[in-house]
Formats: sequence, C-alpha cells, structure tokens
Amino acid sequence: MGTSETAVDTEIAISVRGLTKTYGSFEALRGIDLEVRRGEVLALLGPNGAGKTTAVEILEGYRKRDGGTVSVLGADPERRDRDLRAKMGIVLQECAVDPYLTVAEAVTQRAGLYPAPRSVGEVIELVGLAPKAKARVKTLSGGQQRRLDLGLALVGDPELIFLDEPTTGFDPSARREAWDVVRGLCAEGRTVVLTTHYMDEAQALADTVTVIAAGQVVASGPPDTLGGRDHGETTVRFILPSGTSLADLPLPGGVVPTARGEFVEFHIAEPTSVLHTLTAWALERGEVLGGLAVSRPSLEDIYLALTGEDLP
Ligand SMILES: Nc1ncnc2c1ncn2[C@@H]1O[C@H](COP(=O)(O)OP(=O)(O)OP(=O)(O)O)[C@@H](O)[C@H]1O
Ligand SMILES: [Mg+2]
Repeated sequence: MGTSETAVDTEIAISVRGLTKTYGSFEALRGIDLEVRRGEVLALLGPNGAGKTTAVEILEGYRKRDGGTVSVLGADPERRDRDLRAKMGIVLQECAVDPYLTVAEAVTQRAGLYPAPRSVGEVIELVGLAPKAKARVKTLSGGQQRRLDLGLALVGDPELIFLDEPTTGFDPSARREAWDVVRGLCAEGRTVVLTTHYMDEAQALADTVTVIAAGQVVASGPPDTLGGRDHGETTVRFILPSGTSLADLPLPGGVVPTARGEFVEFHIAEPTSVLHTLTAWALERGEVLGGLAVSRPSLEDIYLALTGEDLP
C-alpha cells in the first residue's frame, strides 16, 4: 500500500466497489459502488425492495456479501471486528428492544456494550424522551420507540452512524429535531449513512444522495444537482385570468400550456423573458397572475424520473 493511499484512507469513511448480494437466485445487489467521506451524510434513496437495507446491513457487518470489496473505517465489516463495532452506531429498520425494559434501562444496557459511552441522561434528553425515561418501552408510541432507536444508536458515541429510515413515524417537529441531531453529529466530524423515503429529509441532510433501484445505483450526487436537476426545465403555474383562454396567453412558439383545474402550467428552459411578457400582459388587462409559482424540478421529481416511478 503506497503512502498516497494511506492519506486517502483517513478521509474516506466508507468505500464500496462492485458489491453484490443474492438471496437464493434473486440478485438484491447487482454491483454497487459507494464512497462516503468522513463528516459527510450519505442518503440512500430507492423504491421498496431496491436493496438499501441489504447494502446498509452489509456495511454494518450484519449481512455477508457475495462479491465486491467493502471498507468501513479502514476495516472489512464482515470480520465483525470489536474495534470497528465500537465505532459504529446503528438504527436498524426493524428494531428489537426488550419491551419490558424502561427507556433508561434500555439505554443503560446499550451503553454497557461500548468502551466510552455518552451519559445516559444526556442521550435520553437529546432524543426528547426525558419525560418517558421511566416508562416501559412497550408503552411508548411508535414515534417515541423510533426516537429511542436513535438514542440507542448514539449512546456509544460512535464515529459512524447508520440510520435505516430513522424518522419513520416521527411527527414533523420530532423530525426537525432529529435532523438537528444529525447535523450536530456531522459538525463534530462524524459520518452518517441514512436511508429514507422522505425527499425533504434527503434534501435537508445529505451531502450526497445515491439512488438505488433494483439493486443498482442509478444516480449519485449532491441533492441540488442530482440527475441534472439544476439544468432541468422550469415550471410556471398560475390561475388563468378571468375571461381569457389558454390560446390568449402570449407564449413563445413551442411552449404549450396545459390546464390543471383553474391553474395553467407550462415548462420552459429559461423563464425570465416569458415571465416579463406574461406579467406585462396581465397588468395591461388590470389583472394579476393569481397563485403564480415558478419552480425548478424538486428532488422528488428527479427521484421519480430516475426510478421510473413517475406517474403518467
Ligand atoms: N433475508 C432475505 N431473504 C430473501 N430475500 C430478501 C431478504 N432480505 C431482503 N430480501 C429481498 O431483497 C430485496 C431488497 O430488500 P431490502 O430490504 O434491501 O430493500 P430496501 O431497499 O431496504 O426496501 P424498503 O424501502 O422497503 O426498506 C427485496 O426484494 C427483498 O425481498
Ligand atoms: Mg429497507
């Protein structure tokens, strides 16, 4: 191993090349490449069954791979090395905590598995469960149980955190709090790999979004530019002024407006000039363009196009 490779190793938290996994004859992962730098958040997106949990659990050392190379903090997770495990915190998609323990007991028990855990009280506070510290796990609501899962992942003071759909069932304010927790972890130089079906979560947290479909990476990049999003067409939408029809709109040739209820919508590469003409036209008539919205493709638009889940 050359010196340049050693230098790179200190910056790269996770490196995956050609990862494959089959269940019987079913190919769940068909050659996945991933790279995550230290201090970054990687969000894995993809339809149900795409292979996200399979990939994450291989990185965690919970499942064996069939092929490819995997390096996690410089080690192969398949060896289930104690040092590596002590540096990782995990929220599994399906969590199994003893339902008869109290919240404080569950966190204390988990803390005991790590060489240098955080304070149990501090972790319970961090995930907003202080009022429930003495409640049995089985009495928690779904969202509260998920908060506990997050706390359990953090109590070992991990360098690398895997969160498989961590905020499913969270109410909107709990989700924002969890995002702040994740941002805080990264600000401290920790690395986070998460899966989510919430596009706003990926947009808010991820440095890199990797979209997996049918066991393959179909796109990877920063959420703002993924899949050419920054070059995508702009959608212009407004309420058709009274007494006008689609044919009256002063639009350039080739731009075809569509009616969507009382709204009209069209797509254009560069909207500045057409907006100037349109707004002048409306003002001359003594009208406004009610509900005017000018938007670029959202992360969800790009995701749906990439995964072929676009609605007709
Ligand atoms: N233990 C297993 N045995 C057989 N097939 C499995 C096993 N685990 C997963 N699979 C299959 O592998 C594929 C990928 O599953 P995986 O759980 O990785 O998907 P996912 O992307 O996490 O989906 P979701 O968004 O629903 O959580 C699915 O078709 C699933 O049925
Ligand atoms: Mg999953």
